[in-house]
Amino acid sequence: MSEPMITLEHLSHAYEDENGTCVYAVKDISLTIGAGEFIAIIGTNGSGKSTLAKHLNGLLLPTSGRCIINGKATSDMKNIWAIRQEVGMVFQHPDNQIVASIVEEDVAFGPENLGVPSEEIQERVKQSLARVGMTSFAKHGPHLLSGGQKQRVAIAGILAMHSQCIVLDEPTAMLDPEGRREVMETLLQLHAEGITIVLITHFMEEAVQADRVVVIQEGVLAEEGTPHTVFSQAERLRNMGLDVPVAAEVADWLRRRQVHVPSQVITKEELGDILCP
Ligand SMILES: Nc1ncnc2c1ncn2[C@@H]1O[C@H](COP(=O)(O)OP(=O)(O)OP(=O)(O)O)[C@@H](O)[C@H]1O
Ligand SMILES: [Mg+2]
Repeated sequence: MSEPMITLEHLSHAYEDENGTCVYAVKDISLTIGAGEFIAIIGTNGSGKSTLAKHLNGLLLPTSGRCIINGKATSDMKNIWAIRQEVGMVFQHPDNQIVASIVEEDVAFGPENLGVPSEEIQERVKQSLARVGMTSFAKHGPHLLSGGQKQRVAIAGILAMHSQCIVLDEPTAMLDPEGRREVMETLLQLHAEGITIVLITHFMEEAVQADRVVVIQEGVLAEEGTPHTVFSQAERLRNMGLDVPVAAEVADWLRRRQVHVPSQVITKEELGDILCP
């Protein structure tokens, strides 16, 4: 594996419920994410995915254990601004992340806060918008954009801070299929350019495109491996209340009806190759 970008060491996080009792949302998770990796995190509602994500740039601090970003622990306050610059977050609701009334000003907001000189900001904004395919919208009002375009502007804002890692918490949940496709294409492109991507998603068709899939169940790391390893266990995932990609579902259905389909078939392309060689 490449240099570690994110290291979780026995990370646990507890919230206090209304009676003041500690309830653990994340329990003893250890995980290393390499620089440049594309990781998908899946899990049922309330399994602790967002809680975990918020540790990755120090929005939440561990109750116990450690979260280390590029060698720096989030629990050490002197690291927090460097970590927030290195790891950008994109959330589910496109509208909640927009701070300016013109796209290019919105993208400039992060580097402005970092004190980047204005000429360099202009250059960074231009490059970042180009990387997410939004150059022609630079002068537009963000409220006129589609959800997928708004999420790409949010990603551009992170790129403009020269972050090396982007954590996205269900960025496509509010989007139509076209918006989902746009965001996934952007993420795959940035991954190819070496950016580390951590994508939390309910869409298995998205998770299947990652390098590695992590399954969280009731705050615990239940499964971790390549998409092929994880999604070829259709029965186990269903028992956890999770979907599998449609092609893996069909492959599993065919296998149970004595049609020979190898267990590693999880994408529609692979299924097509097997059924129509
Ligand atoms: N601020 C909070 N205070 C108390 N409990 C919380 C808080 N945030 C989350 N929880 C609880 O922690 C658990 C994990 O929540 P979390 O939001 O991390 O799950 P999730 O996997 O992101 O869920 P979803 O798929 O619905 O987004 C849940 O039981 C939730 O009710
Ligand atoms: Mg969540």
